[in-house]
Amino acid sequence: MAGRDAVLVQEPVKPSDIAPPHHLPNPLDSIVAVDEEIPIIDYAKLFSDDLDERSRALQHLSKASEEYGFFNLVNHSVPDNVIEGALKKIADYFRETEAEEKRKYLKKSSEDTMVYGLNSYAGENREFVKMVVYPEYHCPPEHCYREAFGEYIKGLEEVKFGLARALSKILGQEETYIEDVFNLKRGYDVCAVNVYPPCFNAKSSIGLPTHTDPGFCVSLVQDVNGGLRVLSHQGKWINVSIPPNAILIQLGDHLEVLTNGKFRSHLHHVVVTKNKVQRISLATLHGPSLDTIVSPAPEFVDEHRPRGYRAMTYREALETNDNNPIDVETCLEQLR
Ligand code: SIN
Ligand code: FE2
Repeated sequence: MAGRDAVLVQEPVKPSDIAPPHHLPNPLDSIVAVDEEIPIIDYAKLFSDDLDERSRALQHLSKASEEYGFFNLVNHSVPDNVIEGALKKIADYFRETEAEEKRKYLKKSSEDTMVYGLNSYAGENREFVKMVVYPEYHCPPEHCYREAFGEYIKGLEEVKFGLARALSKILGQEETYIEDVFNLKRGYDVCAVNVYPPCFNAKSSIGLPTHTDPGFCVSLVQDVNGGLRVLSHQGKWINVSIPPNAILIQLGDHLEVLTNGKFRSHLHHVVVTKNKVQRISLATLHGPSLDTIVSPAPEFVDEHRPRGYRAMTYREALETNDNNPIDVETCLEQLR
């Protein structure tokens, strides 16, 4: 990776870009995480006809985005029964489907629109399916969750475009600013369907190693609470609790780059030691169009905030940053 190092010397990049080669196991066991409530954003109020209510909701979103970079979205447009239906059908698939059938979807090329994986890094305890879901929905017809999951994915579209509008306003820009800069209508969304087993005797506590996610943002729902931990702006690891039917939103690396660090994506990982039952999460990465070059916009660069990131496309991030695990010590150093 000598070429990459050469780039690093010239320009600062995201922590995830300077990750050392995958060296696991991460010392997740030694991390103390606290139970702390994370911001809750009322989606409907962001578009309220009551101007005061709308302005308060936008201010709340602004603070949550600048400080935390992640929040629970409630009162959104995806019906509860749609979320529950998708999670249930996916649980059925993983329980009932033979290994032989799953193996058909092991990664063959970077063009694959659906990939099945298991323990993708040493010591990781996770089974997953990753699927391209936007602009086209690529779930294979034979999969029993195709319809229920498709309904959930369709419902997320409104949330993605709505959030882009609200965040654009907070940035003091036209409503369509983020949608236009990221070319979101031709955006590229991938959903990671994660299954973390109950782990009484796991060799390590790693469900998913520490990483940030590329793109505009990630939306995440789950069937069982517990396991996801996020590094907050105060340098504390927080055990993230997601209320039933809320959608957790995590801002992505490309939004951080575009806003020159005004909005940040935050490091997170999943541990499995405390899980007494299986946990399923649906983490949908909402990305810009694959070849849009995202760089810090001039409106967020000045003498007090010099340009802090190099330009990058989403394609590049997906290819080089497939959940790069990071040494936790290195992550903490980034914050100091
Ligand atoms: C992810 O970070 O992509 C998934 C997190 C989770 O499963 O909670
Ligand atoms: Fe993630």
